[in-house]
Amino acid sequence: MTLFRNFNRFFNKFLRQPGYALSVGFKRLRAFFYYYFGKGKSSYPEAVTLFLTHKCNLRCKMCGQWGESGVTKKQSIQFIKEELSLQQLQSIIDDVSTFKPNITLFGGEPLIYPHCIDLIKYIKQKKMHCLIITNGFLLEELAQDIVESGLDELNVSLDGNAALHNEIRGMSGLFEKIMQGLKRINILKAERKSRTPFINLQCTITKYNYRYLEQLLDVANEARANSLTFHNLIFITPEILNRQKEFDKVLSCSSSDWQGFAFEPEIDVEILHQKMKDILKTKHNFSIDFYPNFSYAELKDYYGNPYYHPRQYSGRCLSPWIVAYVFPDGHVRPCLNSTYSFGNVKEANFMKIWNSQEAIRFRKILKENKIFPACVRCTELYRY
Ligand SMILES: C[S@@+](CC[C@H](N)C(=O)[O-])C[C@H]1O[C@@H](n2cnc3c(N)ncnc32)[C@H](O)[C@@H]1O
Ligand code: SF4
Repeated sequence: MTLFRNFNRFFNKFLRQPGYALSVGFKRLRAFFYYYFGKGKSSYPEAVTLFLTHKCNLRCKMCGQWGESGVTKKQSIQFIKEELSLQQLQSIIDDVSTFKPNITLFGGEPLIYPHCIDLIKYIKQKKMHCLIITNGFLLEELAQDIVESGLDELNVSLDGNAALHNEIRGMSGLFEKIMQGLKRINILKAERKSRTPFINLQCTITKYNYRYLEQLLDVANEARANSLTFHNLIFITPEILNRQKEFDKVLSCSSSDWQGFAFEPEIDVEILHQKMKDILKTKHNFSIDFYPNFSYAELKDYYGNPYYHPRQYSGRCLSPWIVAYVFPDGHVRPCLNSTYSFGNVKEANFMKIWNSQEAIRFRKILKENKIFPACVRCTELYRY
């Protein structure tokens, strides 16, 4: 079911990067096989997300890390400053280069990590697909380095026109700076006759911008984007947080980072749904998606029901069979907001960790339960 719901996204990816899309399709089938028959083991991950740094120069209102309810801003300086060295990250890349997963660079703000460009170059030398998700603040000064690095996909967060984006992200002049950066990148791509990096705009739907989502159409045109994706808001209710604690006890871990998303969405679904329909009717040179791709009834349930459960989707999470998250302290985790660890790259090599006893235990307990309470508004649940 989930596969069909995401067909449009997959098809657009296939048109832009056919080899990459096919290899993703194949790896996903392999992960399905291991989910059902692997007894907690998994084949090589399709993707490895490197969480390069907790640090961020913005304070976006809705962010679970640095926003109004954000959890990272309450952490110690020591925690916030912790990062793996370039050498340690390169050694992870060496370990995984035998099976070539897609590498996603994430944070905090990944471009703040001082060796980010060198790391991208290294990943590309090893012939792996590399994507970065960035707030775009540093694009202008790093444009040349980024284009020359060989980066495949540049996902830039943009939540509205200049006034709205700067308001949500708490920095005047930010939008203008990002657009200058994208302009520069487009010029450099044209000079080098390069199609990459593909420019993907990501807009997070919030109470601040859901009435004005059409603004992004002009923004994406101006940015000469390849794609525009509207992401439904991630949030959690106190009721779900409480239920998650029972499972955390069983797994001896904490999901307290979900606290960063504990707020009311305050989104009028009638208005949002009308916006979606209007936007999806328009035709552009870039692809447009809403993610997850909800119907009206699902949207109502997602935003309005405290006991929401995604019944129309497969109802099981496959992510820990497909993606590994490497954190700045070296721990390899199955999920972004859980402290459960499969092992630490400072102590063991990546492939040992990926199918360690801890990893097998987590996958078995997850499969028995299909999902954990906190999973219901995690975007990974809707991807596979
Ligand atoms: C956490 S940020 C990290 C990367 C980078 N700092 C950035 O802003 O792009 C990754 C993405 O999550 C989005 N995001 C932030 N808060 C969110 C929320 N409550 N629900 C859904 N997405 C959110 C951001 O807008 C951004 O596109
Ligand atoms: S830029 Fe990204 S990490 Fe930083 S506050 Fe905004 S959403 Fe969060």
